[in-house]
Amino acid sequence: MSEKQVFKPNKEFAKNALIKNMCEYQDLQDWATEDYEGFWGSYGKEKLDWMEPFTKVMDDSNFPFVNWFEGGKLNVSSQCIDRHLDTKKNKAAIIFEGDRGDKQIVTYLELYYNVNKFANLLKNKFDVKKGDRVIIYMPMIPEAAYAMLACARLGAIHSVIFGGFSAEAIKDRVKDADAKIIITADGAFRKDKPYMLKPVVDKALEGATPVKKVLVVQRNFEDVEWVAGRDYSYNELIDLESSHCDPEPMDSEDPLFLLYTSGSTGKPKGVQHNSAGYILWAQMTMEWVFDVKENDTYWCTADVGWITGHTYIVYGPLAMGATTVMFEGVPTYPDAGRPWKMVEEYRINQFYTAPTAIRVLHKMGEDEPGKYDLSSLKVLGTVGEPIDPPAWKWYYEAVGNNNCAIVDTYWQTETGGHVISPLPGATPIKPGCATFPLPGIMAEILDDEGNKAPVGEKGLMCITRPWPAMIRGVWGDKERFIKAYFGDVKKDGKPVYFTGDGAVYDDDGYITITGRTDDVINVSGHRMGTAEVEAAIKKHDNVAEVAVVGKPHPLKGEGIFAYILLKEDDGVADELEEMKAINAIIKIEIGNIALCDDMVFVPGLPKTRSGKIMRRILRSIAKGEEITQDISTLEDPGVVDTINKMVNS
Ligand code: WTA
Repeated sequence: MSEKQVFKPNKEFAKNALIKNMCEYQDLQDWATEDYEGFWGSYGKEKLDWMEPFTKVMDDSNFPFVNWFEGGKLNVSSQCIDRHLDTKKNKAAIIFEGDRGDKQIVTYLELYYNVNKFANLLKNKFDVKKGDRVIIYMPMIPEAAYAMLACARLGAIHSVIFGGFSAEAIKDRVKDADAKIIITADGAFRKDKPYMLKPVVDKALEGATPVKKVLVVQRNFEDVEWVAGRDYSYNELIDLESSHCDPEPMDSEDPLFLLYTSGSTGKPKGVQHNSAGYILWAQMTMEWVFDVKENDTYWCTADVGWITGHTYIVYGPLAMGATTVMFEGVPTYPDAGRPWKMVEEYRINQFYTAPTAIRVLHKMGEDEPGKYDLSSLKVLGTVGEPIDPPAWKWYYEAVGNNNCAIVDTYWQTETGGHVISPLPGATPIKPGCATFPLPGIMAEILDDEGNKAPVGEKGLMCITRPWPAMIRGVWGDKERFIKAYFGDVKKDGKPVYFTGDGAVYDDDGYITITGRTDDVINVSGHRMGTAEVEAAIKKHDNVAEVAVVGKPHPLKGEGIFAYILLKEDDGVADELEEMKAINAIIKIEIGNIALCDDMVFVPGLPKTRSGKIMRRILRSIAKGEEITQDISTLEDPGVVDTINKMVNS
């Protein structure tokens, strides 16, 4: 299969799809281009239920601070629950499968009760109010979704932290967000064994902290320490609350959540999303890109701790009134047929996962899909990193039986929802290619001068007009928001949003994302800032200097490669100990997801005379590429050869 091969949408599928062909796509995109506010205003009216209608579609007079749907009032939890009760009260909202195969189906009416009780508990017992920040550190259980929606109901701003992050990482985020409460669980189950979260929270709260209360969902009922007056059991308290809680009327631009993500400095950024624009785009992209029908069952395997879990497990599916599957376990346990067994059992129609998971499932269970009835599948999605042709081929053939659309969805924490993606009933797809901007998204590949990049030439993936689900700010840091996203590229003299990714057009105008152009590494679809990892490594007493780069990894996409200059070099035996000690520090500072795959102890780092580390050279060495960069301007050009020999011979 060559990369140029084109796969047309299934004709039967296209007939009933929301967007049926490329003409319909083009009409929508033309409408948005010609009448941007008309386009968005029309969808804003049609798709959302307003408590008070908006009076202005967009105000970008203070760009890059942009307001959408000004004057409007709504509540995101009502969008996701209340408005479906007339027609779907007994429809499954969430289907949960636990690690050990335990199952739970939560209807929209039950979801309503659970979220309302949760909101009342937060309000009555913990005084959570509009604008308060609430940290959610939870496993993949329905209570995580209830917690998010309960915050939305009260107008509190949630910040979900992925369960793989360490106590130190929680501490930083708690402090930055100035959160008053953490919602967590004792732990959960993984590979048939309990694992713990509450002890990590306990550790994160040692010393000074703004957090006064901890609400603990008991999931695995393991023993945990209990701090009197601070820690409370959800299980004991929840049924004391009433199952009706009036939704807080929220301005369109009131914040909905913060989600911390990695950037090019050592400090993660609290990406802020607001209410109306975010929920509108979550719903619209759910409908367009996954083409979910009324009786469909949709499963996204992400974790709620990442943006994919926010938009495409909780907010998007529920806003459109779909049935969303939540899975606590790991896809390869008890074997690599687990997802396919679940697809058969729940008759899943849309399945959405990351290339890294596809590669692992392929490697560990090439023939597993053939053992199950996967005929319910219509749309297969991928997200998080470019998908390589072998993984794509296996996904298309073995999982999709040559019959499903693959939607390679390109987006980011900051974009709120998909921005470049095939439409399953319309777009002829090419493997590894995110294809075209979605209607309403003015995405363009630009060169350094802000001109459209010529075909075949790598450029910068930009979005030239603000869109409703765009990041509204970096929490507490206006300057960083402007600098990180609007500082690099200008079009017609005006700053535009730059994603940080490189991309290229082909002859047919298709967009292929080529990966980050900044110091962000994509490990198993998770964003890691090199500066963050470096800051952790520097905490080791014997480390003088460090530079971290990404290196292609067969399963993870990219692995972390660290070049370390020690203060004292005591020889190889000690180096092994040193490596273990350094990874142990990373585990404490960030979590297991940031462990280094490779470390090399070098006698020096390639630096310019002004002291800047030349990471490009280190990336080439890690990849085993020939060094083509000019090294004559380095402080010590000889060090390049030395390091290269250490790594590649
Ligand atoms: C990368 C995840 C290629 C990209 C939703 C982006 C992709 C970063 C794709 C955002 C894709 C995401 N093809 N690369 N389909 N989707 N990326 O914020 O580098 O965790 O900037 O959001 O993932 O990662 P984030």
